[in-house]
Amino acid sequence: MQCKVYIVREPTEAAYITMEFLKTLMLIILISVTRKTIKAQRCGISSLSIPAVEGEDAAVGNWPWQVNLQYFGYHICGGSLISQEWVLTAAHCFYYISSASYWTVYLGRQSQNMSVSNPQKVIRGIRSIIIHPDYNHSQLINDIALLRLSKPVNFTNYISPICLAGNDSAFHNGTTCWSTGWGEPGFLEQSD
Ligand SMILES: *[C@@H]1O[C@H](CO)[C@@H](O)[C@H](O)[C@H]1NC(C)=O
Ligand SMILES: *[C@@H]1O[C@H](CO)[C@@H](O)[C@H](O)[C@H]1NC(C)=O
Ligand SMILES: *[C@@H]1O[C@H](CO)[C@@H](O)[C@H](O)[C@H]1NC(C)=O
Ligand SMILES: *[C@@H]1O[C@H](CO)[C@@H](O)[C@H](O)[C@H]1NC(C)=O
Ligand SMILES: *[C@@H]1O[C@H](CO)[C@@H](O)[C@H](O)[C@H]1NC(C)=O
Repeated sequence: MQCKVYIVREPTEAAYITMEFLKTLMLIILISVTRKTIKAQRCGISSLSIPAVEGEDAAVGNWPWQVNLQYFGYHICGGSLISQEWVLTAAHCFYYISSASYWTVYLGRQSQNMSVSNPQKVIRGIRSIIIHPDYNHSQLINDIALLRLSKPVNFTNYISPICLAGNDSAFHNGTTCWSTGWGEPGFLEQSD
């Protein structure tokens, strides 16, 4: 799918409402397109999974959907790969750095330590950033964004997509979850 972004200066109210409507429509279309792509592929499979220990450094390949978003070499945010060319992340990451060209996406990466060799890593730019049209920065409501990679990635044991929750998914109290991300001193960490 091709999307064009037009920059409208000082839009009239009618133009603004149309823009908001088109943005919402685009987001809905994109989500349904990505969902269709995802149905046709395996997701949420960590092929190199080894038993994990809470709070410990993650083993290479344990979280193959975890991506690392960097701005001029600085780690700013994490994200989750949901298809060969889409990443799901938080909208607040782009509040101050909204231009796609400033960002670099690292996939298949475990350590942020530049001295540690990382033969599985793949680097991509960002082609477009789609922020939830009702994102509210002060309240952090609808804090969600989609990133389209500059080029699709091939899935490997170290790079593969996470599953999205279904429309009818229920998350009951007591369900165990994992949260992953990069913590000090720059290693991918996991916790309950
Ligand atoms: C980075 O890796 C090198 C080589 O393994 C190690 O000597 C150094 O302490 C690491 N740095 C950090 C911040 O972990
Ligand atoms: C964000 O939400 C707050 C509280 O609901 C509201 O007062 C504010 O106007 C909202 N901001 C935007 C930009 O929508
Ligand atoms: C992905 O795999 C296909 C088929 O093996 C190959 O032609 C293509 O070059 C690969 N792309 C990347 C970015 O590695
Ligand atoms: C989601 O589920 C509700 C109720 O089960 C249903 O009415 C609705 O059509 C579903 N939406 C989608 C997009 O599947
Ligand atoms: C889940 O647990 C919280 C805190 O104990 C409680 O307030 C909430 O009502 C529970 N929700 C459900 C659906 O049981």
